[in-house]
Amino acid sequence: MDRTTLFSLVLLSLLSTTVASTVAPKETDDDLLIRQVVSAGDDQLLSAEHHFSSFKARFGKAYETEEEHDYRFEVFKANLRRAKTHQKLDPNAVHGVTKFSDLTPGEFRKKFLGLKRLRLPADTQKAPILPTNDLPADFDWRDHGAVTLVKDQGSCGSCWSFSTTGALEGAHFLATGELVSLSEQQLVDCDHQCDPEEKNSCDAGCNGGLMTNAYEYALKAGGLQREVDYPYTGKDGTCKFDKTKVVASVANFSVVSLDEDQIAANLVKNGPLSIGINAVFMQTYIGGVSCPYICSKHMLDHGVLLVGYGTAGYAPIRFKDKPYWIIKNSWGENWGEQGYYKICRGRNVCGVDSMVSTVAALHMEDKSSEIH
Ligand SMILES: *[C@@H]1O[C@H](CO)[C@@H](O)[C@H](O)[C@H]1NC(C)=O
Repeated sequence: MDRTTLFSLVLLSLLSTTVASTVAPKETDDDLLIRQVVSAGDDQLLSAEHHFSSFKARFGKAYETEEEHDYRFEVFKANLRRAKTHQKLDPNAVHGVTKFSDLTPGEFRKKFLGLKRLRLPADTQKAPILPTNDLPADFDWRDHGAVTLVKDQGSCGSCWSFSTTGALEGAHFLATGELVSLSEQQLVDCDHQCDPEEKNSCDAGCNGGLMTNAYEYALKAGGLQREVDYPYTGKDGTCKFDKTKVVASVANFSVVSLDEDQIAANLVKNGPLSIGINAVFMQTYIGGVSCPYICSKHMLDHGVLLVGYGTAGYAPIRFKDKPYWIIKNSWGENWGEQGYYKICRGRNVCGVDSMVSTVAALHMEDKSSEIH
């Protein structure tokens, strides 16, 4: 760009700012708040009503009654206030309007999370300690073909089934060289596995579950079918499992220690890992590296998939060398960074290191020898 172009651009933007401020409508507190929450580039002078309208249009929201509409508008405004608080507590990420902006935190938790229990079973197999001296500085399983496209759990507390399929998809890829999208609905409908140690720990479709239970189920059932053969409905249904159509099977699984280097080593060696996380900051997350000052390590309520870690490729200079985990979520590509979440490494923020498990898939040969 030459100097003249640059100059005219600067002039133009100055002019438009002046013009805009002359014709600006009277501001309310909500407008001020929206300015602070809605990302720059959006028209900053629109009212809360306009932002609610564009939110509805963008995410195809329709409300049945006027009462419901007005209630959702109030919730929307409250969520703008929350987003602003989150922005203050989590300055390296961007928080604002998301597709969940018309849900109360309680509704959000009930409908879009679904991790059943907060504590890991004591008797689960522990992953062996791996060497950590040769770990790459950056690693991302998406670059190695082990990760399927981002899926969408919809309004169903089935996060745990997506975390499970994601880990088995990766393990199956490592074992066979084939990336196959696996069926969450099979888990939602058929997996009622419980942990013997604890009450209320059974996998229960849209009402929540646990990844280690789901591995146990898959181990016993013989494996998982393809997504295309047992497609996702987002609702609890009756089990239609067809054992002859199993495409990926669990060989074994284990729980990884809290140590971040061990987590990284297991990730690199075994493929994407199932993890539990406290999702409180995810309702308003738009992008960047989330690293909130306050986020409980104990309130794990969401099952997701750890696919990599990195230090580079993040814009703000001051944050450039801070490492982060790369997490695949199951809320569609129209959430977060094309469906992904980044969270800082090093401090078990939001409990990201607290509930990590790894799975290995059967090789094809093992499977055929089992059948014969
Ligand atoms: C599976 O078992 C093998 C042999 O005991 C072990 O080396 C490996 O780490 C296990 N894999 C997982 C994912 O637990």
